[in-house]
Amino acid sequence: MNLAIMASGRGSNAAAILDAIASHELDARPVALITNRENVGALDVASSRNVPGHAIPRRAFPSRTAQQRRMLEVLQGSGADFVALAGFDAILRPFIVAAYPNRILNIHPSLLPAFAGGMAPVPQTEALRAGVRISGCTVHVVTEELDAGPIVAQAAVPVLPNDTVDSLSDRILEQEHRLYPLALRWFVDGSARVENGHVYIDSEECQSLWPHPAP
Ligand code: GRF
Repeated sequence: MNLAIMASGRGSNAAAILDAIASHELDARPVALITNRENVGALDVASSRNVPGHAIPRRAFPSRTAQQRRMLEVLQGSGADFVALAGFDAILRPFIVAAYPNRILNIHPSLLPAFAGGMAPVPQTEALRAGVRISGCTVHVVTEELDAGPIVAQAAVPVLPNDTVDSLSDRILEQEHRLYPLALRWFVDGSARVENGHVYIDSEECQSLWPHPAP
């Protein structure tokens, strides 16, 4: 798998994925890290791990479409055959989704389909406001519909009585860093397949994972 990562912020999920590759837990070649902003932590994550970083900011293009056409050029030029969105805060244009059918994953900080649609920390804030007792994160396949593609993996965390947005986000993030490399591995080793809008995983590791104990 030639993996490209797209991110917009600090890049802790990008770091978790790249570190899993470096430690051979994930058998992939990181070919590019693309951001839609300049001067973000994700670019430092890439350079510190010798992964080519590409800042493709909106202001350098006449339209969002032109910006994303450039992103697609960079993806294809890098040889990427799989894409991981890791805190990427723009909605992918259909032409990018179509170029990588069932080959783009995203991570979202809630148990989808609950609290879909917002960028962190909106889902965590909404979870606290709703008073849910359990939240978590979801890795899903990216389709044209925002946060609604087939679910690959989820991890649950408790919501504690004194939680703040930050404390809940930290608890979820710890699970994100564990879950995302694992979910990617199922696509690398061929144990994940997408059929009729569902993801099926043929892996003993997956069978033993659910339900997993709360941290
Ligand atoms: C994470 O909470 C992720 O679930 C969401 O955006 C945040 C990105 O954090 N999509 P980071 O940039 O990976 O640290």
